[in-house]
Amino acid sequence: MADWSEIEALKRIPLTKLFADDPERLGKYSADVSGIHFDWSKTHLTDEAIKAFEKLAKASDLAGKREALFTGQVINVTENRAVTHTAERGEGAKDDVASAQALHARMRALIDAIEAEALGPIRNILHVGIGGSALGPDLLVDALGRDSNRYDVAIVSNVDGLALEEAFKRFDPSATVLAIASKTFTTTETMLNAESVVEWMQAGGVEDPYGRVVALTADPDKAIEWGVDETRVLPFADTVGGRYSLWSSIGFPAAMALGWDAFSELLEGAAEMDRHFRLSALHENVPALAAFTDLLYTQAFGCETRGVFCYDERLRLLPSYLQQLEMESNGKGATIEGKPVGRPTAPITWGGVGTDQQHAVFQLLHQGTHLVPLEFVGVIEQADTLSEDHHKTLLNSMFAQGAALMKGKENPDDLARAYPGDRPSTTLLLDELDARTLGALIAYHEHRVFVSGVLLGINSFDQFGVELGKEMAKAAAKGGGDFDASTQDLIKRAFG
Ligand code: F6P
Repeated sequence: MADWSEIEALKRIPLTKLFADDPERLGKYSADVSGIHFDWSKTHLTDEAIKAFEKLAKASDLAGKREALFTGQVINVTENRAVTHTAERGEGAKDDVASAQALHARMRALIDAIEAEALGPIRNILHVGIGGSALGPDLLVDALGRDSNRYDVAIVSNVDGLALEEAFKRFDPSATVLAIASKTFTTTETMLNAESVVEWMQAGGVEDPYGRVVALTADPDKAIEWGVDETRVLPFADTVGGRYSLWSSIGFPAAMALGWDAFSELLEGAAEMDRHFRLSALHENVPALAAFTDLLYTQAFGCETRGVFCYDERLRLLPSYLQQLEMESNGKGATIEGKPVGRPTAPITWGGVGTDQQHAVFQLLHQGTHLVPLEFVGVIEQADTLSEDHHKTLLNSMFAQGAALMKGKENPDDLARAYPGDRPSTTLLLDELDARTLGALIAYHEHRVFVSGVLLGINSFDQFGVELGKEMAKAAAKGGGDFDASTQDLIKRAFG
C-alpha cells in the first residue's frame, strides 16, 4: 500500500506567499510542450509536494507501469488485456503499431473510395455512437471542422428520437453515409438509432441503405451479422478503450470531415506528447505534474470537483469529453487488487466556456465555500475574423479570472463584497488550435488520468460501474426486473 501520509500532511501555503517567497516560481512551475504553454504557478504545487509525489510514484512503480502501457503488457487486469491507444499514434509495441497502421490504411482507403463517389455523391455523415464512440469524434469535428466544406457531420448519441430527427431535418438520405460507431456493437442506444437511420433512408427512397453503412467497431463479426458489408467494416483493436478510441476508426467522421492529412497530424501531435510523457523526468513531465496537482487537491485539500473552462468556442466540447475520460477512468472504489481504495478517487469534472460561465457559475468560484481547482484553456491565435477586440477581451477575461481568484480582495467592513482569494488555477495556453496541438492536448489529459490511476492503485481502463444500470434498463424493457415501489410506480405512470 502506498503511503500518502506525507501528501496528506502538506500545508496550504497561500498562493501569493508562494510567489513572494520564490521569484523563480513562474519559471519553475510552467513548461512548454507541443505548442502548449502549461502554467501551474497559480496552484499550491510546491517542491515539497512534487518530492512527495515522486516518492509515491516510485512506491507505485509508475515508471514500470508507464513502460508496461507503452509495451503492450496486460495492464487492464480486470479485463485481462493490454491498453494500446498509444499504438494508434505510432507509440507502442511493434506489433500493435503495425496492426493499428494497417487498420488506418484500411480506413483511409474507404475514405478515398467514398470521396471518389464509390457510394454515390455523399455530402453528409450521420455518425451514431455514444460515450467514447461519440464524444471524441464530436470534439474533433466541432473544434477543427468549422471551416471544412468537405462533409456535413451529425453525431447523434442520445436514444431520444428528437436527437435523430434533428439530423434527419438537416440531411438528404440519398447523400448520407451512416457510420455506426460501437466498440461492442451491442449498445442499445446506438443499435436502435442505427436501425432508425436505415428506416429513414428506406423511406427516403434509398434502394440499398445497407450499402451506405460503415461500421466502426472492435467486433467486426457482429457488424457483419447486423448487415454491414465486410468491405465497409473498419475494425479497431479491443485493447483500445472506448474513451481512448478517437485515434482509431472511431475517428472516421473526423478524418472524413477534416481530411486525412489533418487526422495524421492529430495522431502525430498525440505521439509527441506520448514521447514527452514516456521519456521526461517526473518533475518536468507535464501529464505527471498535472496529475500531482489534481491529487494534491483531492487528497490533501479535500476538493471534490475540478472545473475546466475553455476560453475558445471551438473547445466547448472539451469539458464533456474530459468528464468521460476522467470520471469513467478513475471514478472507482476498488484497487487493482480488489480492495476498497479507502481514499477519494477522481474528482467530479465539470466546466464550460468562458466568458459565458463567468456570468453564471463564477460567483461560487470566487466567494463560495467550496475550493475548486480550475483549469483555464485558451488559444493565442485569433480564429474569428471580427475585430481583435473580441479575442483580446476573451483572453484578458481568462487571465483576469485566474489573477482575481488568486489575489482576492479584503473588505473587512462588508463581507458580501470581500473576496477570500487563494483559489487555484492552472492555465493552458495553446499557440494555435490545429490538429497537432489538439492531439497533444488530448493525449496530455489521457496520461494525466493514467498517472492518477497508478498512484491511486486503481485500474483506469475498466468501467464496470455502468453495467448495473444497463442490466436493469434491459429488464425494464422486457417488462420484468426486481424494482422498488417508487420505480414500479414511475414505470406504471409512463407506460400504464
Ligand atoms: O456504458 C459505458 C460505455 O461502455 C463506454 O465505456 C463506451 O464508451 C460507451 O459505453 C459506448 O460503448 P460502445 O462503443 O461499445 O457502443
